[in-house]
Amino acid sequence: MQDIKSLARMIIETGTSTFYKAMQSYASDINEPVLQKIAHLIYKDEVGHYGHFSKHFTRYNEEEKNSRTKLLKVLYHISPQNR
Ligand SMILES: [Fe+2]
Repeated sequence: MQDIKSLARMIIETGTSTFYKAMQSYASDINEPVLQKIAHLIYKDEVGHYGHFSKHFTRYNEEEKNSRTKLLKVLYHISPQNR
């Protein structure tokens, strides 16, 4: 179960890092260097969170040995269009 929780957090961190990357790009487009820098720093932080949960996922998945089918089912059920 811990590997599934880590996998779900990896998905969340992917979403948040993508959001801040888009904000960074938008700030660049409208020539807002301070916002661009802040969004970039938060983006890097979110990528770090992804790496953190990725390490936990690898560790727990080795212990719990959930099948890829089960993990894919979890991904399917946590995607927004299937809630
Ligand atoms: Fe995060």
